[in-house]
Amino acid sequence: MASQQFMLRIGAVVSLCSTVAYAVDAYFPKYYHLGAEPTIDGLQSYDRSSVTLDEHNSVLTLDYTTEVGGWPWVELESPSSPVQIQLKYSEPFDGLELPQGDGPWLYCNGLMNSFRTETFNITDSGTTQSFFLQGGLRWQSITLIGNTPITIRNIGIKPSVTISDPATLPGSFSTSNDMYEQVWSLGARAVEAACVDAGSQPSTWEISDEGALIRGQYPAVSALASSFANYTLEFSTKITAGGTGWRVAGGANGGYGAYFVLTSNKEGLESSNITSLAQNSLIAGYGFTLIDQAILPSAPSETYPVSTVIKENEWYSIKTVINATGYAISVNGQDIAFVGNSNFESYINGAWGSGSLTEGNFGFGPYLNQQAWYKDVKVTAQNGTVIYQQPFTSTDILQEYAVASNEYAVCLDGAKRDREVWIGDFAHTGRMIAASSGRYDYIKSMIEFEFDWQYPPGPAHGLVPIQAYMGAGADYREVYYPSEFGETDYQFFFLLVLSDYFALTGDKDTLSKNWDGLKLLVQTLVDRYYDQGSGLMASADASWFSAQGSQNATAPTALFVVALNQLFEVATAFGDSDTASTWSQLSTNITTAINDSLWNENIGAYSLSLAQPDDTAIMATAFTIRAGIASSDRVTSSIARLSDVFLAIGYKDSSAASNSASTQLSPNTQGFLLESLFLAYTKYNVSVDVVIPAIQNLSEVFWPKMVTQNEYFTGASWEYLYQDGSPGIGIFTSLSHPWGGAPTYIFSNYILGVRTEWNAQVKSYEWVFAPAWDIAEGLGLGWARGRVPLSTGGYIEAEWNTTSKGEKPTMSATVVGNGNVKINVIERL
Ligand SMILES: *[C@@H]1O[C@H](CO)[C@@H](O)[C@H](O)[C@H]1NC(C)=O
Ligand SMILES: *[C@@H]1O[C@H](CO)[C@@H](O)[C@H](O)[C@H]1NC(C)=O
Ligand SMILES: *[C@@H]1O[C@H](CO)[C@@H](O)[C@H](O)[C@H]1NC(C)=O
Ligand SMILES: *[C@@H]1O[C@H](CO)[C@@H](O)[C@H](O)[C@H]1NC(C)=O
Ligand SMILES: *[C@@H]1O[C@H](CO)[C@@H](O)[C@H](O)[C@H]1NC(C)=O
Ligand SMILES: *[C@@H]1O[C@H](CO)[C@@H](O)[C@H](O)[C@H]1NC(C)=O
Ligand SMILES: *[C@@H]1O[C@H](CO)[C@@H](O)[C@H](O)[C@H]1NC(C)=O
Ligand SMILES: *[C@@H]1O[C@H](CO)[C@@H](O)[C@H](O)[C@H]1NC(C)=O
Ligand SMILES: *[C@@H]1O[C@H](CO)[C@@H](O)[C@H](O)[C@H]1NC(C)=O
Ligand SMILES: *[C@@H]1O[C@H](CO)[C@@H](O)[C@H](O)[C@H]1NC(C)=O
Ligand SMILES: *[C@@H]1O[C@H](CO)[C@@H](O)[C@H](O)[C@H]1NC(C)=O
Repeated sequence: MASQQFMLRIGAVVSLCSTVAYAVDAYFPKYYHLGAEPTIDGLQSYDRSSVTLDEHNSVLTLDYTTEVGGWPWVELESPSSPVQIQLKYSEPFDGLELPQGDGPWLYCNGLMNSFRTETFNITDSGTTQSFFLQGGLRWQSITLIGNTPITIRNIGIKPSVTISDPATLPGSFSTSNDMYEQVWSLGARAVEAACVDAGSQPSTWEISDEGALIRGQYPAVSALASSFANYTLEFSTKITAGGTGWRVAGGANGGYGAYFVLTSNKEGLESSNITSLAQNSLIAGYGFTLIDQAILPSAPSETYPVSTVIKENEWYSIKTVINATGYAISVNGQDIAFVGNSNFESYINGAWGSGSLTEGNFGFGPYLNQQAWYKDVKVTAQNGTVIYQQPFTSTDILQEYAVASNEYAVCLDGAKRDREVWIGDFAHTGRMIAASSGRYDYIKSMIEFEFDWQYPPGPAHGLVPIQAYMGAGADYREVYYPSEFGETDYQFFFLLVLSDYFALTGDKDTLSKNWDGLKLLVQTLVDRYYDQGSGLMASADASWFSAQGSQNATAPTALFVVALNQLFEVATAFGDSDTASTWSQLSTNITTAINDSLWNENIGAYSLSLAQPDDTAIMATAFTIRAGIASSDRVTSSIARLSDVFLAIGYKDSSAASNSASTQLSPNTQGFLLESLFLAYTKYNVSVDVVIPAIQNLSEVFWPKMVTQNEYFTGASWEYLYQDGSPGIGIFTSLSHPWGGAPTYIFSNYILGVRTEWNAQVKSYEWVFAPAWDIAEGLGLGWARGRVPLSTGGYIEAEWNTTSKGEKPTMSATVVGNGNVKINVIERL
């Protein structure tokens, strides 16, 4: 193997990886197939013996059977002449049938390969490993390009996360209906795939005295330039493979915008038909990258032949001048193209980009399979003032460009996508961790991360980030406000995370360290978003995820009450009675407002919002139950109305959503509903007959879709589903998304019955073993057993068995390996 730009020998890669320990050295495929195209049928067991690809059998399909993540590598025999092979990755099988796999996707490069294909140029025997990690996949293919046969001796993925067999985790759950255990496992696997240890995801840029070496990936944009407009960008670049790429007028949010690639005069690696780029040309596009993916459009790329010869391994200086009609590009002082911007106009997207063709930041990143050096970046404003200058020779720039190795252990929203720290998702994730992997350190680290980023005085004072990049830094947080604050109620979900963490751990140290920050956050939310007129949460600069954007809505307002009620307990346990009393009064006041203005007697449910009184919404139902706002009668009535929003396999978010094939069913929002159905029975005296049909629909119809369809199965929970049971959104839907895995904690908490509960007498939380007996019986479950990990070590092991009708069930609960924890066993009456 000679000069391999996109791969490294195994030995050389060690320095890239942190000292994080993984449970396995490699993930290996379990099955394979050799043929002319990818196939899901008739796979053979893979025993790591040699496989030869040739012109008749040019496609090797590999199946890891469940989600894995890390650095792909292949060990090969020396070919008779240099051979290129294309590797492709996907979560669903059908991604292997598309030229671009199941990518590309939104936002940042997420410290992983931005692409789902890559090409290796093989000249020698040995192991070739990708420079980039792949965050999550089940399927892989290797396609031989050309006719020279090549023999693969071994193949695998070096871990960037430990994804264990859920049966081996500290937490566990099983019951007499095996499907419940399989559904429980989905969330257990998803959190392992999406939570990453500090320093485990290396920077995708390499910095040296010579500049920054950047391999083909989404351009990463500077955090210092989002307010720049009508500027001139200059930099030096040296192509070492294929081409170099940069962007201008990009958004703060990942940099969606104008994108330019300058290719060398040398033939590049084959990319099997995903936008093959002409040599010695300027290619201009607009979007996240050049690939036009059905659900993530990019402007058709334009090619401008360049008359100057662009050689590899030579430095060139490139200048881009933005003006009202386009971008004037010159190389070494010679104009090579003026790219008019009129074809880009219809691709302007205010949510992703800057919303303008002349304004927004700049960034660097070559296209697929390319590689280039960058240095001496300079930006000049229209009036001639130099507004940015950076030699690109210090690692100090990595956080500015959001490509630094992750400073904190964090949980991402999904293993492959978006790889952002969406704090709202973590309301489920944190509790799933507590029930399965027991990695309480991730929850604590997420809390510390959020408070480290909490905004100082300024326009966002007191808020915490809702979609931070793990590769960015708190020093640059101002830039991300307000563009990355599109879901106001994610701040409320963070309040749940904090109080859930305290309920599960009693960790007063973490709490006291962040107590002032927490009070500031609550006060900020009240000051900014509490509408004195309606007594509900509403503000022109707020957007409510849990109410599909509607103002003065039930769900986000009730969610805030849930958070205040939990925080009341936390403040009480913490001994801050003044704060406890303020939060409790506020909760009472908001409760009254919801109860008075949002109950619709005619439909028998809480309305979606003041403006949509005749619509019902599952989160409005879920959070009014959990907040203790609804009376038992109202809960009963609103649960009965759930049938109105049941669509083939699951519940749509609200009655305002259409019944079309493209309506997305969210396991995230249905997770909140599922817990509230249990609470309706355990806390609010609602008859078991009322809740069983809906619990059954969720547990035995909806979630099993993630278990029973081999073509989409990853063993992990999904982001969205369509009503036909296929992944929602489309090809890039995350099929390993913790927000879709709530049954993992709900089954452990209510069916097994082990959870913490507030004990008002002693003003603290205690562990209880209190199964929801009548629900379990209604679901036909005769026994359950499992373990719940404890934050201070050890676990609770519990088991119950309904021996025969009429007799009390047998129950046993033991605290293993932790003398400080007691469990209160509550027998069936
Ligand atoms: C592949 O490697 C060979 C040997 O180093 C080299 O001659 C050839 O140019 C490379 N091909 C590409 C497309 O980089
Ligand atoms: C490659 O792209 C061309 C042009 O879009 C198309 O005609 C051809 O069928 C594609 N080939 C493959 C192998 O997908
Ligand atoms: C933008 O620059 C191009 C190339 O220099 C020039 O032809 C065009 O007139 C300029 N447009 C405006 C509005 O200045
Ligand atoms: C940049 O130029 C455009 C087009 O001439 C103009 O509309 C815009 O106001 C300018 N922006 C700034 C911040 O100067
Ligand atoms: C020139 O433009 C920059 C950027 O818009 C601005 O910050 C600076 O104050 C201006 N300088 C002068 C002298 O007008
Ligand atoms: C919320 O409702 C109140 C009372 O009806 C109204 O005054 C206010 O404008 C509403 N807020 C928003 C942001 O729509
Ligand atoms: C709750 O409402 C009462 C009565 O309107 C008011 O006096 C009190 O200040 C409110 N408390 C909070 C925390 O909003
Ligand atoms: C909400 O209103 C219902 C119906 O009037 C009432 O029964 C219930 O107690 C109220 N909830 C609270 C928490 O006050
Ligand atoms: C449960 O699903 C069935 C369809 O299988 C549906 O008719 C029914 O309305 C759902 N029940 C509830 C309570 O949502
Ligand atoms: C539920 O029933 C119990 C016992 O009858 C009663 O103490 C409690 O107040 C009721 N709770 C609600 C929310 O109705
Ligand atoms: C539950 O109890 C029944 C009757 O004693 C017994 O046959 C069965 O094996 C028990 N199940 C489990 C899982 O322990």
